[in-house]
Amino acid sequence: MPRVAEQTLEVRADFPIFARRFDGRELIYLDSGATSQKPQVVIDALADHLQNHNANVHRGVYALAQEADAAYDEARSGVAAFVGASAQTTIFTKNVTEAINLIAYSWGRANVGADDVVLITQMEHHANIVPWQVLCRERGATLRYLEVDERGELSLEELDVELERGDVRLVAFAHVSNVLGTINPVAEMTERIRAAGAVSLVDGAQAVPQMPVDVEALGADFYAWTGHKALGPTGVGVLHGRRELLEAMEPFLTGGDMISSVDFQSATWNELPYKFEAGTPPIAEAVGLGAAVTYLSGLGMENVRAHERALTAYMLERLAEVPGLRVVGPPEAERRGALTSFTLDGIHPHDVAELADRGGVCIRAGHHCAQPLMRCLGVGATARASLGVYNRASDIDALVGALMAGREIFGL
Ligand SMILES: Cc1ncc(COP(=O)(O)O)c(C=O)c1O
Repeated sequence: MPRVAEQTLEVRADFPIFARRFDGRELIYLDSGATSQKPQVVIDALADHLQNHNANVHRGVYALAQEADAAYDEARSGVAAFVGASAQTTIFTKNVTEAINLIAYSWGRANVGADDVVLITQMEHHANIVPWQVLCRERGATLRYLEVDERGELSLEELDVELERGDVRLVAFAHVSNVLGTINPVAEMTERIRAAGAVSLVDGAQAVPQMPVDVEALGADFYAWTGHKALGPTGVGVLHGRRELLEAMEPFLTGGDMISSVDFQSATWNELPYKFEAGTPPIAEAVGLGAAVTYLSGLGMENVRAHERALTAYMLERLAEVPGLRVVGPPEAERRGALTSFTLDGIHPHDVAELADRGGVCIRAGHHCAQPLMRCLGVGATARASLGVYNRASDIDALVGALMAGREIFGL
């Protein structure tokens, strides 16, 4: 059996959910790509905020309200610093889906016209497809796709060809594919996009939780991610944007907090980042996310990546032992994030997930909100095992054991 050489992190004890037993069995969680489990420090930060510091933000003069303000501001500063961004250009949203919609509405409605092209890729999550479909339909613009090759990767040459046409206004793409695991060459892509006079938006939902990300160095005009996949609570997402672009944009949602002043017929907008945070923001959730990124920084994102890359290499080796199993995406662990999608001859992916569950292993099956990509791959669905900081080689052994047992049940 192959051995994991460089597994570095031993943090399972930090995550109280792993103390639970399911019919006497421990939790083997290989679905962090859907949402991560939460360390005690995040749960404590949420509870402490609600127990001791809860008040609305940006409204009160009393001490408790100022504590809430400080906690929310501190969370923003911590989250921004975690990815090398400035707090003023870091906007809290509900999730990455809302962040992408914000750009499609506020930037897209003002900047994309009838002769323009929005370029995305065949590997996008629906969150990075549907907002552009709606925008293009409304504006009479064209939505075009960069192809995914047989390795599950994009071609920079194809990007160059598309950009040379001169009509691309925006290119939106995932940093890490949630199905293929592919890590896209973000800096190379954003450089080309900028040189062509277009704007870039990167969906970092699967990247920020598992590797060092520096949004400044990556050169993206907009970079969006979601808290719940990065050990934080649900209900909070993050959008980083280039200041000039954000300043020139109209608000997405309107109402309280995002105004400077309101008259009977008109209003003026608050400064960044508040212009894009209408209504009471996700205060406790942001505080929880602040604790999550502090925890991840304490582990060191280089260490998180090394741990998950080693486990991904081990996953690829072990899955190769299962007859009839086909992994989609790049074959090398260093070119992929910590998630592996696969099909198994003779067993539908939903049955694969069911069989894994019988072995006590949580994996996901379905189209993973990437139906166009499923069509490109020629499958209706895949099974997907995705890793977090708390996974061990034995979790992968349990998955492989369950798959082998499942093949026997199916008489394969
Ligand atoms: C690449 C990618 N983009 C977007 C999303 C949507 O995330 P959320 O539902 O938190 O907005 C996901 C979640 O599965 C994802 O993996």
